[in-house]
Amino acid sequence: MSSKIFDMNIENQIVSRLEEDRTLSDKELSALLETDFFDSLLFESADRIRKSIYGTDVYVRGLVEFTNYCKNNCYYCGIRCGNTVLPRYRLSQKEIMDCCETGYKLGFRTFVLQGGEDDFFNDETLCAIISEIKSKYPDCAVTLSIGEKSYKSYKLYFGAGADRYLLRHETADDEHYQKLHPQNMSLQYRKECLRNLKEIGYQVGSGFMVGSPFQETEHLIKDIRFLQELKPEMIGIGPFLTHSDTPFKDQKSGSLELTLRLLAILRLMFPNVLLPATTALGTISPDGRELGLKAGANVVMPNLSPVKVRKQYALYDNKICTGEEAAECRSCIDLRVNTAGYRMVVSRGDFFK
Ligand code: SAM
Ligand code: FES
Repeated sequence: MSSKIFDMNIENQIVSRLEEDRTLSDKELSALLETDFFDSLLFESADRIRKSIYGTDVYVRGLVEFTNYCKNNCYYCGIRCGNTVLPRYRLSQKEIMDCCETGYKLGFRTFVLQGGEDDFFNDETLCAIISEIKSKYPDCAVTLSIGEKSYKSYKLYFGAGADRYLLRHETADDEHYQKLHPQNMSLQYRKECLRNLKEIGYQVGSGFMVGSPFQETEHLIKDIRFLQELKPEMIGIGPFLTHSDTPFKDQKSGSLELTLRLLAILRLMFPNVLLPATTALGTISPDGRELGLKAGANVVMPNLSPVKVRKQYALYDNKICTGEEAAECRSCIDLRVNTAGYRMVVSRGDFFK
């Protein structure tokens, strides 16, 4: 679509309506998504709204990637079980606790336990880990990101003290979902998991990859509509990035520009939402996370995993913060956040109702 067909008046109207009504028609959303014409106004408005609610505060989540074993075989993902060349690892409970200790000293008050779907960590083991973190750090939030589980398991983790759960829906279009996942996975079950998590009482995060293979504007609109229905407390989006040992090795990565545009749209639609500037965004461009913050993001998730395993949690090629230099993630991120004009805060960073 050519940007010349819009004039300044329409630009202003459409973005202010998005800000006021927190929604637009599908046609208007397509117009925003398919051209860069609205970008500067979108970013400016998103930043203004974010500052009116959160000021310049940026919340930090310490990410512990505790296992790269996964029984799933998602076509896009570098740690899928079909990737037989990847060396696998699991952190022990003691190693996970050591990560949290480092994080706590650095001022992190949320720990995100993320991993593949690894049955080695059964409910009992996971509950023991969650309980130990919560009893040692009662002032911290524990977020889980360990995929699809039964209602009963989610309930047990919640009972053990888990506060939040991240489960991206990946795409809200059935056909598109089947192009990204093997037949044994379904969008319907993914959505059911999200509804169960909400019902149990978790603060829930969902989201999707931007520019995943076969993604069209209409899919992004469905993603937005699904999020409007789900009303999550957190929304995680980042560009799809190619991994050379997956079936999508020849597919193009997503773009920085479209990811930033979507971050701004999401901030305007969900003013209070917790919105991370993701590692994938920092991987696609050296200043991707800073640009993400300026487009409405208000969360960063530095890696707390032991440096020795970081390269093995390779969801996509060239993932940042995996080398020796990454041991000092906190000061690197601090500097980036400050340079962008924001400040990291020592806080659990709960959702503002
Ligand atoms: N197993 C859990 C799950 O499925 O929710 C958590 C781990 S999974 C690796 C976390 C997220 O990584 C996924 O939701 C997906 O959106 C993202 N991811 C996986 N492969 C990716 C890729 N090639 N590029 C960008 N993001 C990717
Ligand atoms: Fe399981 Fe990606 S396929 S985490």
